[in-house]
Amino acid sequence: MSAPLIVAIDGPSGAGKSSAARALAVRLGVPYIDTGAMYRAVGLAARDRGILLPIEDAEAVASIARHARIELIPDAAGNRVHLDGRDISEEIRRPEISLYASAVSAIPAVRRSLVAEQQRLGRERGGVMEGRDIGTRVFPETPFKFFLTADPGVRAERRAAELSARGTPQPLETVRREMEQRDRDDGSRADSPLTLDGRYVLIDSTGRPLEAVVAEIERRVREAI
Ligand code: DC
Repeated sequence: MSAPLIVAIDGPSGAGKSSAARALAVRLGVPYIDTGAMYRAVGLAARDRGILLPIEDAEAVASIARHARIELIPDAAGNRVHLDGRDISEEIRRPEISLYASAVSAIPAVRRSLVAEQQRLGRERGGVMEGRDIGTRVFPETPFKFFLTADPGVRAERRAAELSARGTPQPLETVRREMEQRDRDDGSRADSPLTLDGRYVLIDSTGRPLEAVVAEIERRVREAI
C-alpha cells in the first residue's frame, strides 16, 4: 500500500490557510487537520490552570500538553475541538487564546508532544495539515508543501472579519498589532520557527478568491501524484 497523502499548508495567521486547507481536504478526500487548534487547546488549558503570560513555568505547560486529551473531530465546517471530552471549538478562537497558543508553542517539550500526535494522525489516514512547521518538522518528507501568505493589511482585515463573525469584534488596529506580534514570535522562536524555504510553493492569496487558491493547490498536487 502506498503512503497516505500528506499536504502541508504553512504560513502566518490570516493568510487563508484554514479555508483553503478545509476545501482542499474535501476535494482530495482526506482528513483536514488543524494543528493550530491543538496549540490553542494547550493554551486554553494553561490559562484555565491559572498560568499567566509570559509563561514562567514551562514544565507545568509541558505536563499539560503530555496529559491533555485533544481530539479533532471532523464536521462540515472543519474540525470541532475537544479537550478532555469538552467542546472548546469556540473558546479557543478568542484573541486571548491566540496569544496563549503562540506562547505555549515556543516550549520545545510542548511541541514534541503535539508533533508526535500530529504524525500519528497523518500516518493513519493522511490529510491536509495546516500549521507553521508541517513541511519543516512534522512531515518534512512530504513533497507537497505550500506556504500561504498575503499582504499584512489584508490578513488583519480577514482576522478582524472572522472575529466579528464569531461575535467577538476587535478594532482593526488591535488585530493588526496582535497579528504582527504573533508573526514576530512564531517566526523567531528557537524551536521550529515559521520558515519559508525553497521546497515550498509560495502562494500569495492577496486579492485572489479562495476558490482560485484551492484550485491551484489541487492542480499542483494532482499533477505531481
Ligand atoms: O494557526 P493558528 O493561528 O490557530 O495557530 C495558533 C498558534 O499556534 C500560532 O500563533 C503558532 C502556533 N502553531 C505552531 O507553532 N505550530 C503549528 N503547526 C500550528 C500553530
